[in-house]
Amino acid sequence: MFPLRSVLMFVLTLCLVCRFLEGQKSLNVLLFRKIVTDHHRKFISLYEVAISRDHTTVNFTLNLVRNITADIWLRATIGQRVSKNGESYRDVFTYNVNLCQVMGRGKGKGNSLINFWLNSILRHSNMPQICPLKEGNYYMRNIRSEKETIPRFIRSGSFRIDSNAYVRDWHGANLTVTIAYVDIKMK
Ligand SMILES: *[C@@H]1O[C@H](CO)[C@@H](O)[C@H](O)[C@H]1NC(C)=O
Ligand SMILES: *[C@@H]1O[C@H](CO)[C@@H](O)[C@H](O)[C@H]1NC(C)=O
Ligand SMILES: *[C@@H]1O[C@H](CO)[C@@H](O)[C@H](O)[C@H]1NC(C)=O
Repeated sequence: MFPLRSVLMFVLTLCLVCRFLEGQKSLNVLLFRKIVTDHHRKFISLYEVAISRDHTTVNFTLNLVRNITADIWLRATIGQRVSKNGESYRDVFTYNVNLCQVMGRGKGKGNSLINFWLNSILRHSNMPQICPLKEGNYYMRNIRSEKETIPRFIRSGSFRIDSNAYVRDWHGANLTVTIAYVDIKMK
């Protein structure tokens, strides 16, 4: 009835989720090497990212020119660089969340790491934590990694974090596309 393979996949997924939620206490350093962005011209007039000179913090600026009246989703894929000098990455984690739902659950309530990330980012932002998101000029400042926010299964190395904020109800239109290249060093 339940093929061994699906049982194994299920257990594996469960393990990954547990380890993910458990967090990691031994991050040494996370450096932002490069961030590439793009945005939907119809909804956003400016989407900009600035990395600090020491590569430890990032500021985001977003000028939204229309109200986003449907739920905003975030899809992110973390890939680890396979070879030292190459540019090929092996996906290690993907998640896809309805940001409006996550924010709607309120500050600090849910115990998932995603909530933790979002809340710590939103604390450094003037973004309202409610949907629908209104037109306006938004920022997130001095975003940096916090020790406890790195999933345990992440190993030292170079990573690519690919993320899209999109509107599922509007044929999956991407509002923003952000590709961050980071170096992570674990103790
Ligand atoms: C980010 O914004 C803060 C506050 O305005 C500023 O002090 C800091 O220099 C900015 N960092 C970058 C990398 O632009
Ligand atoms: C956006 O929403 C606000 C408040 O709900 C409203 O006053 C404003 O007219 C809306 N803007 C547009 C372009 O629809
Ligand atoms: C949104 O971006 C992703 C990845 O960059 C892409 O795969 C997808 O096709 C885009 N969606 C639309 C509707 O263009």
